[in-house]
Amino acid sequence: MSKVVLITGCSSGIGRHLAQTLSETGFAVAATARRPQTLDDLPAALKLALDVTDPASIQPAVDAVLEKFGRVDVLVNNAGFAVCGALEEIPDAQIQRLFDVNVFGVLRMVRAVVPHMRRQGEGRIINISSIAGKFPTPVGGAYSATKFALEALSDTLRFELAAFGIRVVVIEPGSIRTSFNQTVEDCSGQILANPASPYRALYAAYERVVQSMRRGEPGPEAVTRVIVRAIRSPRPKARYLAAVPLSGRLAMHLSAGAWDAILRLLYKNIAGET
Ligand SMILES: NC(=O)c1ccc[n+]([C@@H]2O[C@H](COP(=O)([O-])OP(=O)(O)OC[C@H]3O[C@@H](n4cnc5c(N)ncnc54)[C@H](OP(=O)(O)O)[C@@H]3O)[C@@H](O)[C@H]2O)c1
Repeated sequence: MSKVVLITGCSSGIGRHLAQTLSETGFAVAATARRPQTLDDLPAALKLALDVTDPASIQPAVDAVLEKFGRVDVLVNNAGFAVCGALEEIPDAQIQRLFDVNVFGVLRMVRAVVPHMRRQGEGRIINISSIAGKFPTPVGGAYSATKFALEALSDTLRFELAAFGIRVVVIEPGSIRTSFNQTVEDCSGQILANPASPYRALYAAYERVVQSMRRGEPGPEAVTRVIVRAIRSPRPKARYLAAVPLSGRLAMHLSAGAWDAILRLLYKNIAGET
């Protein structure tokens, strides 16, 4: 019997590409999105409305998956977004929204699905974190905080759920070409473009750094490949990097002092411009 995979955030980007690829390779995919009309042209076996911040939409979606397939083998917690800005300047409501989607959304999905996986005696939870869950950057601190939290939750869940045959895996993508950056602009444009901000020089440098980082970034297929490996592996690793360049892999092993020095180099001249 094909494995049943429930994926959040399939309207675009990584979730969409993963849903399409798994569907085309024989998995029974339950593709979900908060705007279900965005799923119309996906070849998934089941397409459902699901907003990870709304428990009233999560339960019916999980029930529909169980009704159609009788089980959930893999949950991919993919839905997520970023708000950027200096921590002093991002309104609380925006940071709370970020945690509601990127952290509490994952917890809500886990709580809805785990009882069924426990009954099955097996299951796999794949959490899409980020390289930003390994080291924070200026202006990206709020997003990083959500992904650090997701990393910690995943490590705890890996231990707590192992006794029930449920494995927990973290995927840590680098920069990937999706709608992610557009959402950052939509959510953070006003903060980053404020000419009266004391952080305007930092924001200008940030835009330059992001632009150069995003040059030549791969598409979502680079992450799909890694997720499929994590789904198929009989003994998956706790975490997988996806499309992280060598510089990023090396940065993970730096001391705080060395990391700050690199950031100072990247963001050079900022002090003189404020
Ligand atoms: N792209 C990158 O550079 C990158 C790097 C590292 C990690 N990631 C992570 O990869 C994951 C997927 O992002 P992506 O790059 O594929 O970006 P994307 O194309 O913007 O996709 C994000 C998905 O999350 C969905 N979403 C947002 N809020 C939601 C909610 N409340 N309920 C349900 N779905 C919601 C979006 O739906 P709507 O269309 O309705 O907004 C969209 O389907 C995220 O967790 C992101 O943090 C991305």
